[in-house]
Amino acid sequence: MTDDIQEILLDEETISQRVSALGAEIDVHYEGEEILLITLLDGAIVFTADLIRNLRRPLRLDCIRVSSYGDSTSPESSPRILGNLRAEVEGRHVLLVDDILDTGNTLSRVQNEILSRNPASVHSCVLLDKPARRETPFKADWIGFSIPDHFVVGYGLDYAGRYRQLPHVALLKPEVYS
Ligand code: IMP
Ligand code: MG
Repeated sequence: MTDDIQEILLDEETISQRVSALGAEIDVHYEGEEILLITLLDGAIVFTADLIRNLRRPLRLDCIRVSSYGDSTSPESSPRILGNLRAEVEGRHVLLVDDILDTGNTLSRVQNEILSRNPASVHSCVLLDKPARRETPFKADWIGFSIPDHFVVGYGLDYAGRYRQLPHVALLKPEVYS
């Protein structure tokens, strides 16, 4: 598996420092409030697991799964929400957490769904942002790293379901895709 990696873009230490800084910023924002953190499966699980251990505010966790990629590197333009949220959203302070903000289609779809349920607030936090790829305008409130337009894997991000367990964010060798 490590033979498939071309280059490490973000190493473990860099990610870990940034995730604790994000946790501190988010804590300041939510002073006196309880967070309903909604994580987008599957890609955000690793980031979420580390992020919540850097949050000191009261927090409840829920998950949502959105259809996006099959086994290719280009997304469907209209993501569907699969399954239901267990948590009551009305009146709650919702924090959406995703691995990467790419076209913006997924997070804007999910944000609209949450807004339709009358939350007290909705914010979003992503580990990675690829601003060059945006199709639907979307600004995340907290961003770990802005990266150029490369397909990346690791730290939860996959290619065809694989490489999620890498501790860093990396680029794959071009031959892996062919
Ligand atoms: P969107 O294009 O902003 O809707 O992002 C949809 C989803 O595509 C993200 O939550 C990721 O799971 C996935 N994605 C986007 N870019 C990458 C990438 O570079 N590597 C792996 N997954 C990606
Ligand atoms: Mg994915």
